Amino acid sequence: HVESMAQLPSGAGKIQRLNAVILGEALASEEDDLVLPSEEFSSQAHVSSPRQYLEMYSRSIQDPAGFWSEIGSQFYWKETWAPEVVSENLDVRKGAVKIEWFKGALTNICYNALDRNIEAGYGDKVAIYWEGNELGQDGQLTYKELLEKVCQLANYLKSVGVGKGDAVVIYLPMLMELPIAMLACARIGAVHSVVFAGFSAESLAQRIVDCKPKVVITCNAVRRGSKPIHLKDIVDNALVESTKNDVPVGLCLTYENPSAMKREATKWQDGRDVWWQDVVPTFPTECPVEWVDAEDPLFLLYTSGSTGKPKGVLHTTGGYMVYTATTFKYAFDYKPSDIYWCTADCGWITGHSYVTYGPLLNGATVIVFEGAPNYPDVGRCWDIVDKYKVTIFYTAPTLVRSLMRESSEYVTRYSRKSLRVLGSVGEPINPSAWRWFFNVVGDSRCPISDTWWQTETGGFMITPLPGAWPQKPGSATFPFFGVQPVIVDEKGNEIEGECSGYLCIKNSWPGAFRTLYGDHERYETTYFKPFAGYYFTGDGCSRDKDGYHWLTGRVDDVINVSGHRIGTAEVESALVSHPQCAEAAVVGIEHEVKGQGIYAFVTLIEGVPYSEELRKSLILTVRKQIGAFAAPDKIHWAPGLPKTRSGKIMRRILRKIASRQLDELGDTSTLADPGVVQQLISLSDC
Ligand code: WT7
Repeated sequence: HVESMAQLPSGAGKIQRLNAVILGEALASEEDDLVLPSEEFSSQAHVSSPRQYLEMYSRSIQDPAGFWSEIGSQFYWKETWAPEVVSENLDVRKGAVKIEWFKGALTNICYNALDRNIEAGYGDKVAIYWEGNELGQDGQLTYKELLEKVCQLANYLKSVGVGKGDAVVIYLPMLMELPIAMLACARIGAVHSVVFAGFSAESLAQRIVDCKPKVVITCNAVRRGSKPIHLKDIVDNALVESTKNDVPVGLCLTYENPSAMKREATKWQDGRDVWWQDVVPTFPTECPVEWVDAEDPLFLLYTSGSTGKPKGVLHTTGGYMVYTATTFKYAFDYKPSDIYWCTADCGWITGHSYVTYGPLLNGATVIVFEGAPNYPDVGRCWDIVDKYKVTIFYTAPTLVRSLMRESSEYVTRYSRKSLRVLGSVGEPINPSAWRWFFNVVGDSRCPISDTWWQTETGGFMITPLPGAWPQKPGSATFPFFGVQPVIVDEKGNEIEGECSGYLCIKNSWPGAFRTLYGDHERYETTYFKPFAGYYFTGDGCSRDKDGYHWLTGRVDDVINVSGHRIGTAEVESALVSHPQCAEAAVVGIEHEVKGQGIYAFVTLIEGVPYSEELRKSLILTVRKQIGAFAAPDKIHWAPGLPKTRSGKIMRRILRKIASRQLDELGDTSTLADPGVVQQLISLSDC
């Protein structure tokens, strides 16, 4: 074993220690918090030991082209790739950052997800089980039926002039029509941009103005819990706004969601608005595939960064396809008999990669859930697990934490015996939530895949492979095949062994995003300039003596609220748009359920008195401009903000005030006016 270790590439250096441990040293005796996979699970797993992982991992690092070509060849390509497969430059010092995988090959991800699986005999297998908001409201589509629906929409889109490279904005709740719309775009080479249906009209408009879609696809309304939300009204407002910005959209395809709102009650603009049900079903159920280059864009997904303007993360086709399918298969130990449920909304990257593409590329049966996990009560998830005999359940720590506050009787009254793998994503999962998830939900039987990744990475980057890894609650463990995470210090030097610092990635992987739409410079500046030669993730990370990775959260001005990424600058710019707000500074604070909460320091216009009414109106402004999920948890009245002499707000101090760590304020002498700190502290109970 020592020999085989010696051959490991440097990128795998950090796992050597683990390997030594697995091969004999008694890690379990030192480490109480170690959860070993059962023999029963490991013996049936795709990767059943750390040793097997190490073999595959080393190969993926030593010969990425060979490794990914072999996997890539399991997909259908109209034309195969040129020998290079991967070409990358991640170093701004050597010119423009450019990443390419499978360049020159022609394929289609919709064809690979549907047609290819139907040909392989999955035509009558259920592709999607849909569970509505109300109990008993459900539906399903087999692979064949899904393909027919996708083709009808694809044909319709073509008929209205949508073609290869055209953008389509999708603003839909979790109806089957959402993945259908994504796949229909992919089939004809159009670029979808799904906007989470919790975003406000303003946010939607901002995205529309940026990507200039030919069509917006929406539905008239949706019920979330007991509340109806009129999505079409939001789209109407967004389109008024986008028109003002010279981006009029000529067509709004609207799905009638009759359980939420009748057609007649929907506001309508003749000439622009078209009912989905009136047109789409009249189109043929077969639609030829548009073959696209592996490097042609598949979708744009906007995410938050450290400025107010959201970033249009662009993913291309071939590498993303191979990567999402492969990560799905290994990280969840997927088998054809599995029933898979990911609670994420398709409006986020998780819903792209692990509700839609990854699972369907594997021919999996997925559950699409429209409702809320606490409606009609907090047992809903387990009711769904039992109803569909879910085997793989993938969710976010925030949901786990909110459910663990309730009586565990809501869980134990359901059988859950179908479950075999659990997954977590979106933010670090604290060990106590991990334990509850493992012991109560999974009956101490199911490994948990704590998958660390990002909108930008397309797929899992650091994740346990269930069956292979002894788990440490709260650690995302080790890199996926082909990924070389490194921890660097302030100066960008790699640090080895037990350490903590900034998490970077040393190479490219097939699922990596290729640019920020329309702003390659921002792509380079944000991700590749901070530490030259590396992709910078924006996350802090530590590595323990066994080589396990522990993600510690964002180190930039991004807050993670319930797994939703929100830029502090976005919230600030919403607040200052309020006529009575002069200035705002937003920081994240620890929140028991949401992971992080939003804490806003607000300076009012001279002479405006603070009032409860104003507090509400400020919060409402944020809800209106971004969405309800971005509403500040706390508004702190700030006659002045702590600024350096050059005018930069010192957030470090604000974070300490917000979390009441007043003895850790640190050096305040460089402030232009040190007095504001005391002032803020004394006002913190407003
Ligand atoms: C940020 C990315 C990736 C899908 C959902 C969020 C945090 C994500 C984990 C995890 C610790 C995590 C990071 C990352 N994050 N997963 N398993 N453990 N932190 O995608 O909106 O692009 O956010 O979410 O901070 O940078 P996203």
